[in-house]
Amino acid sequence: MSDHSYLSTKQKPSYSVQNSNMKTASPIIMALIVTLVSCMMVLFFVKPADGIIGINWGRQTYQRLIPSNVVDLLLQNGIQEARIFTAADNVMAAFSGSGIGLSISLSNFVLHMINSSAAAEEWIQKSVIKFRSQNVDIRYVNVGAEPLSTSFTNKTYDNVIDALKLIQTALNDAGYGDLVKATIPHYTDVVTHRSMKPSAAYFRDDIENKMVDYLKFLKENNAPAAVDIYPIHYCNENDLDPDFAFFDHKSKFYVLDDNGLNYTNAFDFLYDSFYWAMKKAGVPDLRLVVGQIGWPTDGYPNANTKNAQRFYKDLLPYVAGNKGTPMRPGRPIDVYLHSISDENRLGLWYGGFQRHWGIYTFDGQPKYKIDFSGKGRDIFPTTAKGITRMPKRWCIFNGDLSDMEIVKRELNRACLESDCSSLAPGGSCSHLDFNQNVSYAFNRYFQMKQQKTHEEACSFQGLSQVVPDDPSTGTCIFPIEILAAETADNSKSFLGINGDGSHRVSILSMLLPLISVFLITTNIKLYTL
Ligand SMILES: *[C@@H]1O[C@H](CO)[C@@H](O)[C@H](O)[C@H]1NC(C)=O
Ligand SMILES: *[C@@H]1O[C@H](CO)[C@@H](O)[C@H](O)[C@H]1NC(C)=O
Ligand SMILES: *[C@@H]1O[C@H](CO)[C@@H](O)[C@H](O)[C@H]1NC(C)=O
Ligand SMILES: *[C@@H]1O[C@H](CO)[C@@H](O)[C@H](O)[C@H]1NC(C)=O
Repeated sequence: MSDHSYLSTKQKPSYSVQNSNMKTASPIIMALIVTLVSCMMVLFFVKPADGIIGINWGRQTYQRLIPSNVVDLLLQNGIQEARIFTAADNVMAAFSGSGIGLSISLSNFVLHMINSSAAAEEWIQKSVIKFRSQNVDIRYVNVGAEPLSTSFTNKTYDNVIDALKLIQTALNDAGYGDLVKATIPHYTDVVTHRSMKPSAAYFRDDIENKMVDYLKFLKENNAPAAVDIYPIHYCNENDLDPDFAFFDHKSKFYVLDDNGLNYTNAFDFLYDSFYWAMKKAGVPDLRLVVGQIGWPTDGYPNANTKNAQRFYKDLLPYVAGNKGTPMRPGRPIDVYLHSISDENRLGLWYGGFQRHWGIYTFDGQPKYKIDFSGKGRDIFPTTAKGITRMPKRWCIFNGDLSDMEIVKRELNRACLESDCSSLAPGGSCSHLDFNQNVSYAFNRYFQMKQQKTHEEACSFQGLSQVVPDDPSTGTCIFPIEILAAETADNSKSFLGINGDGSHRVSILSMLLPLISVFLITTNIKLYTL
């Protein structure tokens, strides 16, 4: 791990020995003194490299926070590294000169365009070199987003390894090879567990050769491997004790004696499984970055603020304490927390929880206590500044059920275009009755449309009305949007070179028919006619 700090902002101390009174000393004594002083300096000043705590910032929201406010938020909270998914010019400008190390992304949807050295060179010119020359400290390129995962869709992006090689080679050829590293953020399902022990893990049969080839290439280029780890999802999917997702050792499920090691939480288990797979692939000593880790707060069983707070309360000191995992004690772990704020335009194919990973709400308010420094203090993080909310007005259902067909149709329309993920089973609004469901949907649509009544933001075939009284009930908040700082431009992120990854699909309007079919056939039920 000696190469750990090569991407970090921290400077290694440099040593110099004063030689004013040493003219008479013999070379041997001088050598001894130099050695002694060096040793002392090493003892006092060089501590093992720290794990990096970075954060992801996705921007698939109706109204967006102003980039400079977000960068300010990161700086206020002492966060040194961030990962973004779309490289809009105003976002990059906000990071310029901030000292924050940036990871940028190349979407799954444009991987097929990176099919030659010339294409890769063109991409790095406009996505990396241009911004680095504007003092944006780009350090990583994430090529694809979980491109070989089969858990969520059947579509894999098989040319991703070739694209990665072309991008890193283009970076090397342009003289940026030491500064910018390309890697692929994989999902944990690239590894299979033949038994419930990390040592039994290896890469899936269908991608084994690709993964070996890929890891060797990373090694040659001194680039880290990356994996996204979602403990809540792992436990839910595999029906494990939910406590296994946390670090406080309360789980009734654990793995005992994997080569003498015990595993008491999903993170250690999944992280070490990935290391075992790398070890078996003949590349045991790569640095492994956790590209996404976090806890959603809605739209899923066990997804709530209490659990999110509990999760981070132990995760961050664990990382900052350089404890390492059972297989690699004392080795730093790098994590990118997922993520800054909720994203109400993300696709729903993997469940409503995908819209609720934010540590902050969409309007920049922290949802719970979290100490980004990793010191485990019981504090709220700094709040985003300069946010203005729209007026306190809500659009609700007037209760007219005389034509159920129209009510259901309007409800459906409102939900498809806005965000009803909190109504999903396990969600914060799953307790609403039918009329409240309709009100919730109408209000989300109304707020998404920036309360513009003159543009039919609250006209649902005469079934709605605007009210000044907050209809929120219990855990269910009927939100008011922020004043549009920046309106989302989704056509660009889908088709553009910097669009988001396959697990980050937004473009609802382009895919409405598909989504309707999907929603109807899965457990995220909406009303059908
Ligand atoms: C590479 O991709 C571009 C854009 O998709 C396409 O026009 C071109 O034909 C491809 N070239 C090769 C060699 O496949
Ligand atoms: C994935 O492929 C299998 C087998 O071809 C098919 O049965 C399944 O429906 C597909 N799933 C999705 C989400 O497309
Ligand atoms: C693992 O757990 C077993 C049973 O509780 C215990 O005897 C053993 O000492 C533990 N090993 C380690 C490395 O903690
Ligand atoms: C409210 O909507 C959610 C999500 O569609 C659904 O699961 C729930 O059953 C609805 N509640 C009622 C009372 O219709």
